[in-house]
Amino acid sequence: MSGFYHIVTYGCQMNVHDSEKIAGMLKELGYESTQKIEEADIIVFNTCCIRENAENHAYGNIGMLKKLKAANKNLIIAVGGCMPQQIGKADVLHKKFPYVDIIFGTHNLNDFKNLILKKRESKKAVVEIVGGNGDVCEGDNPYRTSYPNAWVNIMYGCDNFCSYCIVPYVRGRERSRQPQNIVAEAKQLIADGYKEITLLGQNVNSYGKGIDGASFPSLLKQIAEIEGKFRLRFMTSHPKDFSEELVKVIASYGKICNNVHLPVQSGSDRILKAMNRRYTSAEYLKKIEILKKYIPDCTVTTDIIVGFPGETEEDFRATMDLVKQVGYSSAFTFVYSPRQGTKAAAMENQVPEEVSKARIMELIELVNSLTRVQSAGYVGKTCEVLCEGYDDKKDMFLGRDEYGRMGYFKCENNPIGQFVNIKVTEANGISLYGKII
Ligand code: 5AD
Ligand code: SF4
Repeated sequence: MSGFYHIVTYGCQMNVHDSEKIAGMLKELGYESTQKIEEADIIVFNTCCIRENAENHAYGNIGMLKKLKAANKNLIIAVGGCMPQQIGKADVLHKKFPYVDIIFGTHNLNDFKNLILKKRESKKAVVEIVGGNGDVCEGDNPYRTSYPNAWVNIMYGCDNFCSYCIVPYVRGRERSRQPQNIVAEAKQLIADGYKEITLLGQNVNSYGKGIDGASFPSLLKQIAEIEGKFRLRFMTSHPKDFSEELVKVIASYGKICNNVHLPVQSGSDRILKAMNRRYTSAEYLKKIEILKKYIPDCTVTTDIIVGFPGETEEDFRATMDLVKQVGYSSAFTFVYSPRQGTKAAAMENQVPEEVSKARIMELIELVNSLTRVQSAGYVGKTCEVLCEGYDDKKDMFLGRDEYGRMGYFKCENNPIGQFVNIKVTEANGISLYGKII
């Protein structure tokens, strides 16, 4: 049996890549992709539970499928990923949405193909959540959808237990892939024509724990030494493990982009301690200083949470000051969302919603103003972008430069997958506009 599949992905890049793995399995079963959810024979929701609104989003969308299911009895609906992996959540989902056919957790991802086969044999819903710490997946066969970039997992899980974060509970303990397998995958991707490789892990800096001789700087070096023109990126780094050795490796290889994502979360030492981040704002700033010493043009992006339990006006001001001091090129900003089972969810002094909202607005305004100033500095300059797509609304091609800035331009031929030099003529917020030279 074959037909069409449609995957709805929530959350981070890790999930985007997991969806590529799900798509790979569906292709192996003979399904083809469709953008139209109504014509799908199998619909997969790859969920995220990092904040409450991601969960609510998924609930809303799964709820809307009841009608489709009633109209097509053969439709298979699967809900997987981080949401069902939470303790007790699979049962909640099963009760709330009895028409969902397959419920699976993050640790069952590699077994998804078998779950579909099982469902085809049975009228009952297949609910499978494996507990424990998760395994290491080598040699999967993702159906990649982000050419010219390719995502590559180097490790799974997280051991950090930041007090607000549910990831260690749903993604299991930190475990790394074998370096030779990662390098072989990267070589094959370059040979296949991919022009950018992004290494993925919750905390890439602690890559290699438990593997003799493996470390993140050494892995980066091995990949950067692969022949051919391509870019190398990685995410996410934990500041406590971000080392001078790593900075030196970034500085010595042109292929490794001078753009680092280093989530700070807060500028207040009191809050950082309560978050269990294991660095102070001064230690964080020292890392930035080292980065700028070796790579003066390196841009830095970050994640920030406002409204963590007990965050005072003074704590928030410390965050604003740190943001100004670092001069981030952009930042992902979040209102703290209590996650059941985490330490922070049980803390007193939860910050009122209206206070958090006012703080995030102020923070976003500051981040946008930093971005605007930096974008304006590009006007008149030439930058090399890797063309990654076409924007229908703007009727222009688009691509990112090494620093992560998006540039739009017109081109007669299709340059997707090519490096293109553009002269920037205009900057608008985060976006640059230019002409090919
Ligand atoms: N509430 C708000 N933001 C969160 N993040 C993680 N957990 C939470 C939470 N409970 C943010 C952090 C992290 C990013 C991926 O999501 O900033 O770096
Ligand atoms: Fe969550 Fe902290 Fe691990 Fe990042 S490092 S995934 S924020 S626990």
